[in-house]
Amino acid sequence: MKNIGIVGIGDWGKNLLRNFYNLSSGKLTLACDSDEKRLTAARATYNGLQTTNDFSDLIADDSIGSIVIGTPPSSHAELAIAAMEAGKDVFVEKPLALSVEDGERMVETAEKHNRILMVGHIMVYHTATLYLKNMIDSGELGDVYYMYASRVNLGKVRSIENAWWSFAPHDISIILYLLEKTPVRVTATGASYLQDGIEDVVFTTLHFADGKMAHIHVSWLDPQKDRKMTVVGSKKMVVFDDTEASEKIRIFDKGADKKQDYDTYADYLTLRTGDIVIPKIPGGEPLADECRHFLECVESRERPRSDGREGLRTLKVLRAAQESMEKGGAPIEIK
Ligand SMILES: NC(=O)c1ccc[n+]([C@@H]2O[C@H](COP(=O)([O-])OP(=O)(O)OC[C@H]3O[C@@H](n4cnc5c(N)ncnc54)[C@H](O)[C@@H]3O)[C@@H](O)[C@H]2O)c1
Repeated sequence: MKNIGIVGIGDWGKNLLRNFYNLSSGKLTLACDSDEKRLTAARATYNGLQTTNDFSDLIADDSIGSIVIGTPPSSHAELAIAAMEAGKDVFVEKPLALSVEDGERMVETAEKHNRILMVGHIMVYHTATLYLKNMIDSGELGDVYYMYASRVNLGKVRSIENAWWSFAPHDISIILYLLEKTPVRVTATGASYLQDGIEDVVFTTLHFADGKMAHIHVSWLDPQKDRKMTVVGSKKMVVFDDTEASEKIRIFDKGADKKQDYDTYADYLTLRTGDIVIPKIPGGEPLADECRHFLECVESRERPRSDGREGLRTLKVLRAAQESMEKGGAPIEIK
């Protein structure tokens, strides 16, 4: 395997640096950031790590085969395209880009140059998401009716992207992964309380062609930390609570069953409230699993679970919701 370079080792990028450095046995050789303080700290932590404040040094280094991008989203497209055109594979943090046009250019560049392009949809590498996916695919939940997610806390207030663009890629990527479909219509409303024009809180509904529905609530202005996804199926219901240390999934054997009265032949509903099961799910750091997956795909040349096309699907939902917000909650069709 060739060496790895990284650009953007800020609040989140330093976690990417740690994981890729450890997983690649020191093959992460060059880190780039425009902030000298970040570079000094990285050199002091990682033995043998070279640093630069100039991205073109990563591109020019022939020993580097892949580049990890942990910069803010406004620079993802430009950096990723330059890297892929120079023959490097790319891991780029979520969201893939800020416009669908940029996302499409990234996917086209990856395909044209036969490069691996993976977007950091960390939640599709989370063992609890994988457990939930298995439950759905095996039919244990029955027909999935609807799901809703909440990702709120009093957290890092960003000044370029709003809470929707910052948080919702996680929930959208889980929903699209679980349902294996793209919504046909999105409605969203949001409000800006702290900074003009940057929504702190957003409520979004995704509508699917087959009648399924998913709702997402994101906010960085909330008294409680919540990272929850509830999935309601015809047979069982599940709550995935990512704030729980170990009991992340609760399966409720609850539902409403349609029955028929054989005297009158009238339909009636019975409610079922059975056991609550908390399965044992392997722990670990989802980010490590995500980084490992990228390295494996670089070696095997297989399509990553969250490749550029998945990033683009999520991006289309992000954009449609943004447009809906700007139009006062009007429904926006996704083509
Ligand atoms: N997967 C997750 O759970 C998760 C969590 C937080 C953030 N993120 C994503 O990580 C990315 C970075 O977020 P963050 O919170 O670390 O931001 P940040 O502002 O803390 O860090 C960004 C870093 O990139 C550097 N940088 C920016 N442009 C550069 C350039 N052209 N060349 C070199 N260095 C450059 C900055 O100096 C800074 O150190 C975003 O895409 C964000 O959405 C993902």
